[in-house]
Amino acid sequence: MIGLIEKAEKFHRLDKDELVCLLSCNNDVAAELFAAADRICRKYIGDGIYLRALLEFSDYCRNNCLYCGIRAGNSTCLRYRQSVDDIVQAAVFAKRKGLETIVLQSGEDTFFDSDKMCDIIKRIKALDMAVTLSLGEKSTEEYAAYKKAGADRYLLRIETTDEAVYKAMHPNMSLKNRKRCLYDLKILNYEVGTGTLVGLPNQTAESLAEDILFYVEAGADMVGIGPLIPHPQTPLASAKAGDIMTVMKMVALTRLLLPKANIPAVTAVETLHKGSRDKVLAAGANVVMPNVNAENLKEKYEIYPNKYGIGKSAAEVIKNIENGAKVIGKRVLKSKGNSKAFTPAVVIGLTGGIACGKSYVSSLLAKKGFAVVDCDKIVRELQTYDEDVMKKIKAVFPLAFRNVDGKDVLDRAKLSELTLAKEDGLAEMEKIMIPLVLQRVRELIVFFKKQGKKYIVIDAPLLFEAGLNALCTLVICVYADDEVSLKRYLAREGTSKERLSVLKTRQLPLSEKMKMSDVCIKSENESETAAAVDKFVSECVNMGDVGEK
Ligand code: 5AD
Repeated sequence: MIGLIEKAEKFHRLDKDELVCLLSCNNDVAAELFAAADRICRKYIGDGIYLRALLEFSDYCRNNCLYCGIRAGNSTCLRYRQSVDDIVQAAVFAKRKGLETIVLQSGEDTFFDSDKMCDIIKRIKALDMAVTLSLGEKSTEEYAAYKKAGADRYLLRIETTDEAVYKAMHPNMSLKNRKRCLYDLKILNYEVGTGTLVGLPNQTAESLAEDILFYVEAGADMVGIGPLIPHPQTPLASAKAGDIMTVMKMVALTRLLLPKANIPAVTAVETLHKGSRDKVLAAGANVVMPNVNAENLKEKYEIYPNKYGIGKSAAEVIKNIENGAKVIGKRVLKSKGNSKAFTPAVVIGLTGGIACGKSYVSSLLAKKGFAVVDCDKIVRELQTYDEDVMKKIKAVFPLAFRNVDGKDVLDRAKLSELTLAKEDGLAEMEKIMIPLVLQRVRELIVFFKKQGKKYIVIDAPLLFEAGLNALCTLVICVYADDEVSLKRYLAREGTSKERLSVLKTRQLPLSEKMKMSDVCIKSENESETAAAVDKFVSECVNMGDVGEK
């Protein structure tokens, strides 16, 4: 066990079994684990505790999470919404108290649409504060709009990575969409916070270990881990509260695996056990989020009962944090406290018409050191290795498979033939492939971002059609004269004019794509194209560090 802690402290890596082992360790080993996490925290972050002003501005929520007191189904919850002016005023108040970050949290309240949120964000950014949002699941376009308005960070706990537990706790929601949101946020250059609700019914040590591995996989910049506190007006009224020791182990292990992440000691730990906030701050955590709401609203935002901080002013709470910090040899810092793990990237969409010379541009960008996510290649890989994809295709196109040594193998040429021969065949294939390709694209971009790649290209014929443009900093459209494209297309194997006309029915016209793009590059003559790409690359580099503050 001690060997595992030493390994984690040195290499910041543990596998699932090792995490399970440490999550189940006895108190003596746990003490060693906390000490190691504290050392790593001081080494990478220092002795500072960052403060964030938490403003809960609406407790209306469209969701029905079984554990949460502000769930739509709780008719006893006293609902409120603050006005845009009051929200901005609260930020002014926080800034006056010396707090440089405001966390805007609410239920999933559709009243605050994209325009209202962007207005709030812009007005608070004018105060020179870091803006963190915690508004739940939104569309890619909404996340992009908030970012454009100036939002810096976003908190969205995964809650649990266990499919069955997630499903049982979150009616009409899906783990898949939650992950989509987190990947979107990461790709859009937010500092991304996620985390776990510890103590959900049927949650296991294995799933908690998976949660930590997920934080790493998703490139979390911040991780908030807290215990479940049963709320009497919810279906979990008689559930057991989450275990503080497990929360502390999760915090410590997260610190060891993500040394640079910002990790709060959340309000729920102090609520459940007075004094435990400081213990968590001595076991790897480095952030506290005092509530700056008006007293009458603090009580109403009752995700769980008897929230710590009710009846205390923000100034009192801050004083209390400062006193606690001294005892554990830390000090409160009121600066913005940006994540030291944050790595912004420029994401470039690359699209064009059929046989327009896009692959050539893509290869030139790759030569310049840009990371390339190639959607056609993803399709090929999925259709070669992914059992699930094969099963889905087989249900629609059984004749596309050949039996080789007792195994079903997909004949892609045959599939393409069958797809075009069948009415709506192409649409059916897209229905199978696009969601899986989109998921893989997101994973690959995050993978490259974590590697520190500054420029990432999404090479996608259907970039606009699939909505991937919403993830891009800018889009390049590659074009060529119709006749040139046609000639190139017909020179490829297995093509025909008829096939081309079917393919075209599934794509926006090239002229539309060009209008929607930021840069258009002609790809007819190789040296001219190379010169255009060179020019683009130098301008791109001059754009500097997108997303950096
Ligand atoms: N106890 C503890 N935490 C809760 N949350 C929601 N309900 C409860 C509860 N009863 C947490 C969720 C959510 C965060 C804002 O509050 O994990 O992500």
